[in-house]
Amino acid sequence: MFIGHIALPNRLFAAPMAGVTDRPFRQLCKRLGAGYAVSEMVTSRKDLWTSLKTSRRANHDGEVAPISVQIAGTDAQMMAEAAAYNIDRGAQIIDINMGCPAKKVCNKWAGSALMQDEPLALEIVEAVVAACAPRNVPVTLKMRTGWCSTERNALRIALAAEAAGVAMVTVHGRTREQGYKGHAEYDTVAAVKAALRIPVCANGDIDSPEKARDVLVQTGADAIMIGRAAQGRPWIFREIAHFLATGEHLAPPATLQAKAWLLEHLNDHYALYGEYAGVRTARKHIGWAVRALPGGEEFRARMNTLESCDDQVRAVADWFDALADEHRLLPHAVAAANDSLIEPIDADPMISSAQQQA
Ligand SMILES: Cc1cc2nc3c(=O)[nH]c(=O)nc-3n(C[C@H](O)[C@H](O)[C@H](O)COP(=O)(O)O)c2cc1C
Repeated sequence: MFIGHIALPNRLFAAPMAGVTDRPFRQLCKRLGAGYAVSEMVTSRKDLWTSLKTSRRANHDGEVAPISVQIAGTDAQMMAEAAAYNIDRGAQIIDINMGCPAKKVCNKWAGSALMQDEPLALEIVEAVVAACAPRNVPVTLKMRTGWCSTERNALRIALAAEAAGVAMVTVHGRTREQGYKGHAEYDTVAAVKAALRIPVCANGDIDSPEKARDVLVQTGADAIMIGRAAQGRPWIFREIAHFLATGEHLAPPATLQAKAWLLEHLNDHYALYGEYAGVRTARKHIGWAVRALPGGEEFRARMNTLESCDDQVRAVADWFDALADEHRLLPHAVAAANDSLIEPIDADPMISSAQQQA
């Protein structure tokens, strides 16, 4: 599997999720079987590049290659500059966000709202490709199936993007209008795949090895991208890889192994965010990790009262040790994934960075 000239170890990708797929989480996904992981979106607004939030997002220290940065914005020149800025900071692939439905992004005509304005969408793609091509950096595009059920224009935009030099297209099988409701459909993804020569990645509601296999078969896609199902279950990538290779299910991870991965994640997380923000933003990852486990809800509530890294780490370690006494293997690991279709946070890099500095 290649994106432009860049070879990937497999075709299982971690989806960009603002507020989730920061560097520590991407690293963990890659370690546990993801062949590729896209950053949280980085705004094209220069005035926000020096904000703590954006500078954290543009920090790729120690990240396993290829480093892929998603950019979001509404102005072709600004998007081209954002691409160059992120390449200077280590990006090896630039992804254009035409998939995010968050309201504040859409009010600014970024994200999936761009699909409603095809000339502007294409202008942005052309400008970003022009900025990246001289530096040998492939450009990818992530989009939805269209704006609404009567306006499914993913195929038209994908063909235009391919002609403009885009190296891969990812399609989330929902319209912008759907938000995260209903189910993803894969016929539009299959139509895009059938029409394009560049790789196509299918995305939306993939939460099990069987679903991964079925989506690959139904769409003929070159790759699949997983978002919410990896929250609290980053080892889903290796579970899928094993199933696709052997037709058999990997056993759930040992409870103490899951504990070790979570503690490793927490330490990386604190190193990036510091104690105050780190403890608070780690709560969601811990919550996802325990939500489907016996006693997980009670632990989540208690954990939300802890205010220091030491206390958080100790509580997590003790809780998993006690669970391991009862369950050598992680119980309900599959239920955790099926329960994963939670609403996304309205994370917005365009507007709210000042409020989200902590
Ligand atoms: C919390 C959250 C944040 C997201 N942020 C982004 C983003 O920054 N850029 C983007 O293209 N998509 C974003 N998405 C959409 C995901 O990349 C993905 O397309 C969507 O969740 C469907 O895949 P899934 O069913 O595997 O979760 C986000 C989704 C969630 C749940």
